[in-house]
Amino acid sequence: MADTPKIDEATGTETTGHTWDGIEELNTPLPRWWLWTFYATVLWGLIYTILFPAWPLVSGATSGLLGFSTRGEVAAEIERVELSNAELTESLTTIDLAALPANGALHRFAVQAGRSVFAANCSQCHGAGAAGVVASGYPNLLDDDWLWGGTLEEIVNTVRHGIRNDDVDSRYSEMPPFDWMEGGELDRIVHHVRSLSGLDHDANAADQGAALFLDNCSACHGENGLGNRDIGAPNLADAIWLRGGTHEAILRQLMAPRHGVMPPWGERLGEAEVRAVSAYVHGLGGGEAQIADPVLETEAEDAAAVPDATYPAEAGETPEETGADDVAPAE
Ligand code: HEC
Ligand code: HEC
Repeated sequence: MADTPKIDEATGTETTGHTWDGIEELNTPLPRWWLWTFYATVLWGLIYTILFPAWPLVSGATSGLLGFSTRGEVAAEIERVELSNAELTESLTTIDLAALPANGALHRFAVQAGRSVFAANCSQCHGAGAAGVVASGYPNLLDDDWLWGGTLEEIVNTVRHGIRNDDVDSRYSEMPPFDWMEGGELDRIVHHVRSLSGLDHDANAADQGAALFLDNCSACHGENGLGNRDIGAPNLADAIWLRGGTHEAILRQLMAPRHGVMPPWGERLGEAEVRAVSAYVHGLGGGEAQIADPVLETEAEDAAAVPDATYPAEAGETPEETGADDVAPAE
């Protein structure tokens, strides 16, 4: 290497003094701006690894002075959403149910929340779309055919306490078996029941069955078979079947009645979620306004005069004997 810097004549640039086959290496320093940018990124990198999680350790990594973590971010985000919903949840828990449908924002919130409550807790029995399972005892919640009532209040009541379970306020009733009846009589009743929905039937037999129906069934199902919501006795005249409308299915219900069981949700979900999911169900299409239908009201009052749902009392069956414990009635 030369002692004094040597200048390349052609470019006027200093050379490094290295020569290969007469070709000299020029000494061109990095531009200032590039160098400073480079130093700045090094500095940035160092500061970053001090402030944020960076260096891998045996288990985990350095956490950084700022204590930032993506998981923490998510938790904070969830808390923010919950806080902003806390007020709505509070109002939902306390509002007079009758006023809920008219309260636009709160009602929308309830229906939204109710949709996910339904998906998580109800869809396994009632179906993801709430259409129930035909003739399996899991009712369709989309239509306006209600066993126990379709006002928001009645739905909340059904959901909170459930049906035929251990909750003290559970909805309860039991259809007695009619296996003691003579085969011909049963047959005539079935023809009558099918005639109520306009299904194929023997008119003669149905006529004779009408009297038997009046004596044995009208106490619960109503004189005209329109049902009674006080005791969850289905409307038999609407061609909508909980357990099937074929001759065999009706006969089977008469010989060995099956009963739907639904768990109570009040304690498991809490008041806000019970109301939310009820608002969702109420809004699916069949929800009724608070004022009950006058026709059904009369039927209900007529039937309410009956001593109780376990008629006829003298038969004295227990729930076990009548299959009231069929939690999942399979078809
Ligand atoms: C284990 C199955 C099961 C689950 C889970 C279930 N239900 Fe039910 N549900 C039933 C059965 C069976 C009936 C019909 C009972 C009967 O025959 O009276 C019913 C009836 C109802 C009724 C009354 C319908 C009417 O016509 O009056 C409503 C409302 C209802 N369920 C809503 C819900 C909601 C909301 C949830 C979720 C929080 C839910 N159910 C979860 C089985 C279930
Ligand atoms: C003590 C009240 C009671 C009496 C009496 C009674 N039922 Fe019922 N019945 C019910 C109840 C409650 C159900 C709903 C059972 C369930 O959860 O599926 C029902 C269900 C039915 C069903 C199934 C309806 C459907 O949608 O699939 C038929 C059919 C029926 N009853 C016919 C009769 C006939 C016919 C008689 C008279 C011989 C009669 N019931 C007497 C209470 C009664």
